[in-house]
Amino acid sequence: MADLAMMLLKDGYDAIPRLRQRTGTTRDDAFTCRVLGRRAVVVRGRDAVRLFYDEDVVQREGAVPPPLAALLFGRGAVHGTDGDQHRIRKAMFLGLLTSERVDDLAATIGRDLARRVEGWPGREVSVFDELVEVYGAAVQAWAGIDQAPADVHRTSRRLATVVDGFGGAGTAYARAWAARLQLDRWARDLVGRARRDPGSVRDDTVLADIARGPGSGLDPHLAGVELLNVLRPTVAVAWPGTFLARDLAGLADHSTLGDEARRSLGHEVRRTAPFVPALAGLVRRDTSFDGVALAPGDLLVLDVPGTNAHPDLWNEPERFAPGRFVGHEPDPFGYVPQGGGYPATGHRCPGEPLTVRILQQTADVLAGVPYHVVGSSDHDRRRIPTLPRHGLRVRVG
Ligand code: HEM
Repeated sequence: MADLAMMLLKDGYDAIPRLRQRTGTTRDDAFTCRVLGRRAVVVRGRDAVRLFYDEDVVQREGAVPPPLAALLFGRGAVHGTDGDQHRIRKAMFLGLLTSERVDDLAATIGRDLARRVEGWPGREVSVFDELVEVYGAAVQAWAGIDQAPADVHRTSRRLATVVDGFGGAGTAYARAWAARLQLDRWARDLVGRARRDPGSVRDDTVLADIARGPGSGLDPHLAGVELLNVLRPTVAVAWPGTFLARDLAGLADHSTLGDEARRSLGHEVRRTAPFVPALAGLVRRDTSFDGVALAPGDLLVLDVPGTNAHPDLWNEPERFAPGRFVGHEPDPFGYVPQGGGYPATGHRCPGEPLTVRILQQTADVLAGVPYHVVGSSDHDRRRIPTLPRHGLRVRVG
């Protein structure tokens, strides 16, 4: 039987659709395969999301293969916890990401990006590199981390390098591990210093909260891991941010989009741009889904892109429709680019409101810049994660 882990390495985002096709009709919402030898059931759609987020049926601990979980999230991270441990740790993240802080960081990113694009005329730039720099510097300062500009720059690149390697692509995987080890050490030292010398870190910052507030009970390594779980995914918004820049350039009337249209555009970019290929949980008890039996120890794999483009949930799912979300918010169980359900009661991403705001600020700034794409903006669907070619080269004027 085909092994999904191997196929993800070879076929990237096409692995799950290909396997589905091979195993039955393209309308099946569940099919079985293997993941590193373990029986796995791949599911998609609204009911699948409900099942995946039912804690009685699915646990997270041990679900993501350890090398991948340790690389992307860090050892012991919230992502792989269950029950009370998860609830307590998740409350910390939701407490860190208050709406005031989200507003503050998004506004800073908007201002910094506006300043940055003033330097674009007359040269070719990579949108991805620019966004990594701007988001990375802003999130570090906002989190209470004070470093020399060269170190800020290096940290932003390292955070992006970890994300770039999570799909296991050859040298990117090795580079990601090197960056992970350096970042773990760096973050642990930051927490250690904030604890030893409280005056070294501003109160009311994410670093202060993790070091000596709600995170004070975490050992320094784990506290550092969770600090990185705020910094790294904020830099990761550069992936959908780059797709947004590409999609925006393709819209004839992009400079005239209003607030609501830009919010909708961000949602549609997250729906359609390939990023998270799947989520994984371990089945705890016997049940079934869409006629397929699930047994304890099976891996339950939620097909994220397959849910975001499910034929029963979306009108013309394959079409990029920037106005699709005008006037309404997406369904929490049918739209899952950052997980499904609710952040307070399950594993759904606590950084989604921040992501939405960052993309909105990015669209606001870029909509006012007369850039055009240089060369091809295609992306390689076989590579996880993927980007428009060369990080989207653009030129103004
Ligand atoms: C969880 C995606 C941005 C922090 C997740 C999950 C996904 C996701 C798919 C897993 C949901 C699950 O396991 O059910 C993304 C994407 C982002 C993004 C695509 C933007 C490109 C952020 C940001 C932050 C963040 C900006 C914080 C500032 C977290 C944390 C978790 C998480 C801490 C673990 C939650 C838990 O296990 O309960 N994210 N995220 N993410 N995300 Fe994000």
